[in-house]
Amino acid sequence: MTHSARRPLIAGNWKMHNSLAESVALARAVADVRIGPRTDVVVAPVFTALSAVAQALVGTPVGLAGQDLHWEPKGAFTGAISAPMLKDVGCSHVIIGHSERRQYFGETDESVRNKTLAALRSGLTPIVCVGETLAEREGGITFEVIGRQLDAVLNACESSEIAAMVIAYEPVWAIGTGRTAKSSDAQLAHAFLRDRARHKHAEAADRTRVLYGGSVKADNAAELLAQPDIDGALVGGASLDAETFGRIIRAAG
Ligand code: PGA
Repeated sequence: MTHSARRPLIAGNWKMHNSLAESVALARAVADVRIGPRTDVVVAPVFTALSAVAQALVGTPVGLAGQDLHWEPKGAFTGAISAPMLKDVGCSHVIIGHSERRQYFGETDESVRNKTLAALRSGLTPIVCVGETLAEREGGITFEVIGRQLDAVLNACESSEIAAMVIAYEPVWAIGTGRTAKSSDAQLAHAFLRDRARHKHAEAADRTRVLYGGSVKADNAAELLAQPDIDGALVGGASLDAETFGRIIRAAG
């Protein structure tokens, strides 16, 4: 399968930003963007805004994503939200293993694997984040790190699940720093990740979408998205402004 046969996905990760009213207004503005017929768009508001944003997006092509989930469907897990609950509120996608979760909230390869399986088995599309820190890149172990992070998930998945999941390559040193990976370096990492998935299941890996994340902006999106193994973007800061996010969406086609 070629690059152009995979539908690009542009995902906006709003992180811990926006009140209820601001979230709804931003979602409405994103829904007003002229989205190409072959491009998928999702936004990930804070949990407290999911329900209101879901209402605002009814009848629009923009999908809804959670920023995290717990792998158990329910139980005594104070503060957590499960896959069936995200489905219930109208989510189609969920971000898993974001580097901020790994760095500040004790997310491990094992919890990322459990969460990914829970999402897939509830019919949510997981957006599984992997990425190396600056020290790891400078230490020459980028591929070792992202290969380990991805294998932890792939080793537990069926081929159909590999095809259904979305992987996001997000070099930690590029997140929120204004430092984007060079498109050629990003392409190398993406090709490596797809190859890793190909080892598990060749045909499924051709269908897996691999997004780039880390300081994606309106003026660098087109070049990144033109790379053969970059199938979309996971956008943080630039997704908080509908005009800018709209330009990134249009760069996808
Ligand atoms: P950024 O964040 O676009 O602000 O760098 C990306 C992300 O954390 O997903």
